[in-house]
Amino acid sequence: MKQKRDLLSMHDLSSSEILQILSQAAKLKNDKSLKTTHLKGKTVGLVFQKPSNRTRVSFEVAVYQLGGNCIYLGPAEINLGKRETTEDVAKTLSRYLDCIVARTFSHKDIIELGKFATVPVINGLSDLYHPCQAFADILTVQEKLGDISKVKIAYIGDGNNVCHSLLLICSKLGINISIATPEGYEISNDVLESAQSYAKETGTVIHTTHLPEVAVDSANVIYADVWTSMGQEEETDKRLKDFKNYQINASLVKLADPGYIFLHCLPAHRGEEVTSDVIDGPHSVVFDQAENRMHAEKAILIFLLKK
Ligand code: CP
Ligand code: NVA
Repeated sequence: MKQKRDLLSMHDLSSSEILQILSQAAKLKNDKSLKTTHLKGKTVGLVFQKPSNRTRVSFEVAVYQLGGNCIYLGPAEINLGKRETTEDVAKTLSRYLDCIVARTFSHKDIIELGKFATVPVINGLSDLYHPCQAFADILTVQEKLGDISKVKIAYIGDGNNVCHSLLLICSKLGINISIATPEGYEISNDVLESAQSYAKETGTVIHTTHLPEVAVDSANVIYADVWTSMGQEEETDKRLKDFKNYQINASLVKLADPGYIFLHCLPAHRGEEVTSDVIDGPHSVVFDQAENRMHAEKAILIFLLKK
């Protein structure tokens, strides 16, 4: 029997598989005449423990447009590890579904689902990673800037799930990245070490700093995420203070390449991590990026569910 494949993090895919998925996503987006019945007769379950706009809606529409069905299972239906064990949830859902997309608090739950489900599991965001977001991010960079080998991405803010997945996809594809975080909010050491080992193969230049000005210098892409992620709400006041010098605003973006693009995974908090003039300005491509979630997810589903 063919071994099932998961997308729990970027570690699960080789560089060439990532490029293959990106290329399929671009084709699906640009060639509307492509027949998209790859998920005919298949059902995908969305097991979400946190709220979502983009991930839920883009996956649901992606599955419908590929000819399949989708079932949303929120915390009221499936309370992972509380109503029943994550192992039992994984084993039960595998008897009904062809794929599970899960959004959890702890990444351990995603790993557990992947271990016990006999169908592919896709991470739709955990505290450690957000791989589907990273696919949409790079699809957008390719679309707007072309040759990714010449691009420098600057990520400014929290060393969080979005940042980890962005760093890993960049290190697997040879895209240079500079990450500026406040002290105490650096990326995980394990993720950095993995990224550095991928970078040895691909030549990616990885730079980490506490200085946003240094990260943004000559960057072609500036990336922001919220300062307080879902599940960290009680830290909001402290974070507002700790991140105050990490706002993407008119004076910071002056240091970037004049043709830079602004990316944000959304939801955004205008006046916190980014000012309105930047996110609503001419360099911002955040809604193209949001649209690209759907095209990327179609390609991910096709890749993981192929016979
Ligand atoms: N970017 C993203 O994952 O958005 P949602 O939390 O709305 O799904
Ligand atoms: N870092 C954010 C991303 C939301 C899409 C969070 O985890 O809440």
